[in-house]
Amino acid sequence: MERYSVNDCKVVELDKHHSDRKGNLTVVENNVTLPFAVKRVYYLYDVPGGESRGAHAHRDLCQLIVAVSGSFTVRLFDGKERRSFFLNRPYQGLLVYPGMWRDLEDFSSGAVCMVLASDVYKEEDYIRNYEEYLKYRSNG
Ligand code: TYD
Repeated sequence: MERYSVNDCKVVELDKHHSDRKGNLTVVENNVTLPFAVKRVYYLYDVPGGESRGAHAHRDLCQLIVAVSGSFTVRLFDGKERRSFFLNRPYQGLLVYPGMWRDLEDFSSGAVCMVLASDVYKEEDYIRNYEEYLKYRSNG
């Protein structure tokens, strides 16, 4: 597994089709928009104000995180450097590579956080313990 840093993670502009009369449509397509094929989609919603989500890292999973409604902040840490991304546009997605500790915070009311993921749900892919994560990133 390649070792990624927070500087590999970035906001990508998604395809947006605009119609003055009928609004907007955004497309994410396998092998066109993303450097991975999507195997799973899930979304977070009804997150109470002041609550945070995440607080884990993934060993192999790649994700695209989209604020399809409202806004929130994604804080990433790669064991050395930190980067924060404020997401509030349904036509932008944050590409998160494996190995990033992430915290999702400051959800606006009505925020919907959609995640497109490169694999099905596997609990063994998670690192949920922060000390374990620091060890994982400091080895090799
Ligand atoms: P978790 O990934 O810990 O949520 P977050 O990081 O957003 O706070 O998942 C919360 C719960 O949902 C946990 O019990 C596992 C379950 N879950 C699934 O069953 N399938 C999934 O695809 C995901 C993402 C979570």
